[in-house]
Amino acid sequence: MIVKKAYFEQTGGPEVIQWAEAELPPPGPGEVRMRNTVVGLNYIDTYHRSGLYPVPLPSGLGVEAAGVVEALGDGVDALQVGDRVATFGPALGAYATARNIPASALFALTDDIDDALAAAGLLKGCTTEFLVERCARVQPGWDVVVHAAAGGVGLLLVQWLKHVGARVIGTVSTEEKADLARAAGADHVILYGTEDVAQQVRALTDGKGAEVCFDGVGQATWNASLDSTARRGMIASYGNASGAVNGINLGILAAKGSLFLTRPTLFDYYKQADERAAGAQRVFALLRQGTLKMTVGQRYPLEEAAQAHRDLEARQTTGSTVLLP
Ligand SMILES: NC(=O)c1ccc[n+]([C@@H]2O[C@H](COP(=O)([O-])OP(=O)(O)OC[C@H]3O[C@@H](n4cnc5c(N)ncnc54)[C@H](OP(=O)(O)O)[C@@H]3O)[C@@H](O)[C@H]2O)c1
Repeated sequence: MIVKKAYFEQTGGPEVIQWAEAELPPPGPGEVRMRNTVVGLNYIDTYHRSGLYPVPLPSGLGVEAAGVVEALGDGVDALQVGDRVATFGPALGAYATARNIPASALFALTDDIDDALAAAGLLKGCTTEFLVERCARVQPGWDVVVHAAAGGVGLLLVQWLKHVGARVIGTVSTEEKADLARAAGADHVILYGTEDVAQQVRALTDGKGAEVCFDGVGQATWNASLDSTARRGMIASYGNASGAVNGINLGILAAKGSLFLTRPTLFDYYKQADERAAGAQRVFALLRQGTLKMTVGQRYPLEEAAQAHRDLEARQTTGSTVLLP
């Protein structure tokens, strides 16, 4: 079977993404051949491409997709040809019309979760699940800051936090994004390009600060997160959209009020089969009951992945983005 797939031989800007047509061998032991119907775009794809997260080169690109099982390797008995499935990796290579992938990396999809929903929401939904429920363990009544609240993970965080009874303070770059964050349930939205975030958060919380600060922006918001977090509160620094946070002097956590700091990744919370199944079921349940609504803000043909990267990195996107093979 001939497949079309993205690859990159050197790290750099979106222009390093190349395309090839190649024969896909039969799936190996423990693998299935998955035909992709919708591919999910995630910020981590840009880190792999740019070299921020180094991977051996040449490499495929992309981790998330939904699709159909087309062939089974030896020893795969939990899936059948024709099953609908989704994955968020961690193996790279989702920007492809089809690929071979370990069966253990797949989540089975039920009829009420369509492919676009799965590709737009699985990685970001599971990230939201572990951040809110297992990492920060947010409690009802807490004040919580969500940076980039109109982004893919951001909009889901806002909704999930409202679901568990938190008060949500979002930050965004534009009025249009502020409207989206408010529509998702944010109680207050701060325009971090023009307003002093920490000052606003303190004013909104009677000086206390937020019990939790979810920061996927990184470098640009690090100081605002430090100054916005309440005594003994937590900063969950879970991403680097503006650049990595480096060189932290631990003493700053004491000076700012005995803060907790974590730098968590999805793959450490979705490692064991039982936690993977439980977490994904929780996401699918909230999607099914409408508690969590997906916003697919952009759709691109798969071959325009480079343009999708440009738009994501230029802060031009809202909600989730999918690529269509
Ligand atoms: N730790 C994990 O396991 C995990 C898993 C999934 C995602 N993540 C992280 O979560 C974050 C969000 O991911 P996503 O895919 O949903 O992306 P996204 O939030 O849709 O896009 C990133 C957003 O960050 C904001 N931003 C602020 N400064 C920026 C800058 N200098 N350059 C680019 N963007 C900037 C922009 O929103 P404004 O225009 O409103 O500023 C932009 O839209 C990323 O950092 C990602 O790495 C982490």
